[in-house]
Amino acid sequence: MEEKKCEDSMSLKEEKKSEDDQFHELYVKLPKKRLKSRLFAQYRGFWFEEQVLRGILAFRQHFEAQDSDIVVATMPKAGTTWLKALTFAIANRHKFPISESPLLSKNPHQLVLFLELNLYEKGKIPDPNSLNVAGGQRRIFGTHLAYQCLPDTVLDTSDCRILYLCRNPLDVFTSYVHFFYQNGAFPDLAEKSWEENFDAFCEGTNQYGPFWDHIKGYKEASLKNPNKVLFLHYEELKKDTKSCVKKMAEFLGCPFSPQEEDERVVEGIIKLCSLENLKNLECNKHGEIGMYNVKFSSLFRKGEVGDWANFLTPSMAERLESLMKEKFGESGFNLNIDP
Ligand code: A3P
Repeated sequence: MEEKKCEDSMSLKEEKKSEDDQFHELYVKLPKKRLKSRLFAQYRGFWFEEQVLRGILAFRQHFEAQDSDIVVATMPKAGTTWLKALTFAIANRHKFPISESPLLSKNPHQLVLFLELNLYEKGKIPDPNSLNVAGGQRRIFGTHLAYQCLPDTVLDTSDCRILYLCRNPLDVFTSYVHFFYQNGAFPDLAEKSWEENFDAFCEGTNQYGPFWDHIKGYKEASLKNPNKVLFLHYEELKKDTKSCVKKMAEFLGCPFSPQEEDERVVEGIIKLCSLENLKNLECNKHGEIGMYNVKFSSLFRKGEVGDWANFLTPSMAERLESLMKEKFGESGFNLNIDP
């Protein structure tokens, strides 16, 4: 028995070592770019820090999606926390009625973990039976990864659903810089001027960038396969939350029944997940998560559309707008860039 345990642990160690070697072999060959003290490597067209990339490769290699899984995807600062909360509340509403929702006592990022940043953090391999961390009706996962980087198990070989939330990049960038200042976990980036961070954002060399290919990947996939990918806009979600929440429920195969509508369940979910409500819950005032020690309190700021106009100079806005025209065409994917 003891011998068997020892053999198992040796083979696990060897497997880990060979994965480390494989990672290293790949990593040395990737193009690199430095941003202050951070080194980014380009993988499949997107930029990542080494420790994030380790998680990505482990996720790609070991994760097995199930047909009932839900993956929520965003660029950082596009409204991930909101999307996680809404998706969790919608998909689990029969198990967790609003008054008993785990969202009242836990941050949305504790209930819907990121695949590459939490579950497969820095290359660790979780027990496949432990992935439903919140014990919900369905497994829900988060990712900041571009569509182009997702593994086949998510894209092709399972029927899992993907919800993508897109936000006007001008507001994403504005939120991003405030987050560096507020969170305290990125002192080197907070030290940089708005202009320096802006250059990296426009060059696409920020973590998970470039934003244009990120948005394009999900947009094109949603047009090609609308039953698989639902493309949502933060601005639309703000303007008409009710329609969007209903659309999300339909897409997930759990539309609201007439009785639920009469009982105002949709409104209850919207209120539960609102910025005001989440921000003021004790569980979101303290605590942090993940390898970047993201403080829960730093995830809730203003949540306004067009806040960029208060911070970006006209020439910065012009540069980003013309970049978007160049990348997306005149339609700009209707990103609602006017404040
Ligand atoms: P601002 O910095 O513009 O206020 P992410 O969750 O991807 O990190 O994005 C954070 C942004 O989403 C912040 O934007 C934050 O205020 C906003 N946000 C967080 N929770 C929200 C909610 N429940 N409703 C609307 N916006 C929310």
